[in-house]
Amino acid sequence: MNEVLKTIQGRTSLRRYKDVPIKEEDLELLLYAAQRAPTAGNLMLYSILLIRDQHTKEVLSKTCDHQPFIAKAPLVMVFLADVQRWYDYYRISNVEEYCRRTGMEYREPNLSDLFISVSDALIAAQNVVIAAESLGIGSCYIGDVMENYETHRELLGLPEYAFPIAMLCLGYYPDDHKPIVRPRFDQQYFVFEEKYHRLNAEELTAMFAELEASIPRPNKYAAENAAQYTFARKTGAAFSQEMDRSIRKALENWQGEPL
Ligand SMILES: Cc1cc2nc3c(=O)[nH]c(=O)nc-3n(C[C@H](O)[C@H](O)[C@H](O)COP(=O)(O)O)c2cc1C
Repeated sequence: MNEVLKTIQGRTSLRRYKDVPIKEEDLELLLYAAQRAPTAGNLMLYSILLIRDQHTKEVLSKTCDHQPFIAKAPLVMVFLADVQRWYDYYRISNVEEYCRRTGMEYREPNLSDLFISVSDALIAAQNVVIAAESLGIGSCYIGDVMENYETHRELLGLPEYAFPIAMLCLGYYPDDHKPIVRPRFDQQYFVFEEKYHRLNAEELTAMFAELEASIPRPNKYAAENAAQYTFARKTGAAFSQEMDRSIRKALENWQGEPL
């Protein structure tokens, strides 16, 4: 197996870091890995915030669903789906006036711009994850940065058209680290030839058999099976509800209407 595949296959999320800062030469390589990621039309509709300020990390560790390890990560990167830069450029370059002159319809940022910029931001983030891994730097995504939109806008100084889609905690592996490789669903349940295959009850039962065997019984959620257990812990949990609220608030900016 080649080194790239070994790096991909050996990666696991890291939530405890060696207490040393990321070397500047390693940071440069991480940022270059992000920069070389493909982006739609090469527009690079994303930005990266490097968070090293302890206070900001402490705040994020609370606002991102109370995960104390965030504050202990030597480096935190926030990936923004960002069309602000292009729209500011359009504004200083009289694009709206150009549209009137030529009969083209001017568009303010809409949901499609958000989706494509989210793609750009996440692809760049994953390049950082793999590059980091190859340098002995572990990482963990934090999806909860999508929560508390108003607080994060204020904390990070975000304009209307920059949405924090993902956060990465990064740090060198501790010397005593023992990776835990978490299982994945079998490919037959998520790789389909040509057309989507909706799983029937029998297939779903087989797919989730391992998870079903692994949940604690009894448990504090009074859940009788893995579906109820997962819904209580993830899908229906308070953080998911806050994420819904927060994203709905952010979406108000992306309706194609002039601000
Ligand atoms: C979009 C996304 C959001 C995540 N958010 C969190 C998080 O908030 N906290 C956390 O500890 N791990 C988070 N993770 C890491 C996942 O829990 C982890 O990738 C998953 O359990 C599989 O484990 P592995 O990465 O070690 O293979 C997130 C991962 C992704 C891709």
